[in-house]
Amino acid sequence: MRTLTTLDDLRLELDAARLSGRSIGLVPTMGALHEGHLSLVDRSVAENGVTVVTIFVNPTQFRPGEDLEAYPRQLQDDIALASERGADIVFAPPVHEIYPDGYSTTVSVVGITETLCGAPERRGHEHFDGVTTVVAKLFNMVQADRAYFGQKDAQQVAVIRRMATDLNFRTKVIACPTVREADGLALSSRNAYLTAEERPRALALSKALRSVAGALSDGQRDVATLSAIARDELSVTDSVEYFEIVDPDTLEPVSTIERPVLAVTAARVGKTRLIDNFLLEPHATAVTTPTNPNPTPQAAHLQG
Ligand code: PAF
Repeated sequence: MRTLTTLDDLRLELDAARLSGRSIGLVPTMGALHEGHLSLVDRSVAENGVTVVTIFVNPTQFRPGEDLEAYPRQLQDDIALASERGADIVFAPPVHEIYPDGYSTTVSVVGITETLCGAPERRGHEHFDGVTTVVAKLFNMVQADRAYFGQKDAQQVAVIRRMATDLNFRTKVIACPTVREADGLALSSRNAYLTAEERPRALALSKALRSVAGALSDGQRDVATLSAIARDELSVTDSVEYFEIVDPDTLEPVSTIERPVLAVTAARVGKTRLIDNFLLEPHATAVTTPTNPNPTPQAAHLQG
């Protein structure tokens, strides 16, 4: 496996791969790789001739006062992990390789970036502008056939899909199932911030989503009732930013569940902001995924 830090070197490697007819898979990350990221690497390795893992803590997607400085950085460990899982290239550029002096372009998706994590009071659309800007740049740099993202960041996936469609990127955006701890906590690099006291309370998010999935499978379709169930579970967190049931593509709220929807939540436990979501299907039959090998009865109706 090669570790590269410049765009020139990356292009040389990828041009050679393309000439030899190999397809290219891209796994964009900010490092601190966990099994969630590594499941994306596995999928890319299975589906492509060459897998590029990018590791770049993107400053433009952190808002003032957020954890840019504290964000976990463990490049050598990440390189070893990516290599063990069969990645061919780790691209870990310094900030000036992505944002050289004079850089002044922003890629901005409107609409679906202004709700949920992007709500105006959280100035979250600025976060998504940072995400779409860096992902557009990575798409151009790598020119991958496929790019892999975790469904845990459901809004990010919807925003990137919108951008890729609107800007005619050839790269196919693939969302992969959320990987969870055995007790249900969705894997996130930010889980490392949780204290021993906070860790059990962090489970409230997945418990809330599971309770909603359970109530739905018992026939409850009314979103106001389902939201009340979720908010009850979420009351052990320090603050609930949102719990909503929305259309998976437009992120518009729905009032009753008649088709597949996305239940999404964000809450703070201590200083840590956590997000989670389940895809809910009103008439789903039990599904077992490699990341969720022992579905509970409630899990029969979700893909989180
Ligand atoms: O999901 C992430 O880790 C980041 O938002 C991404 C997609 C790598 C862009 O910096």
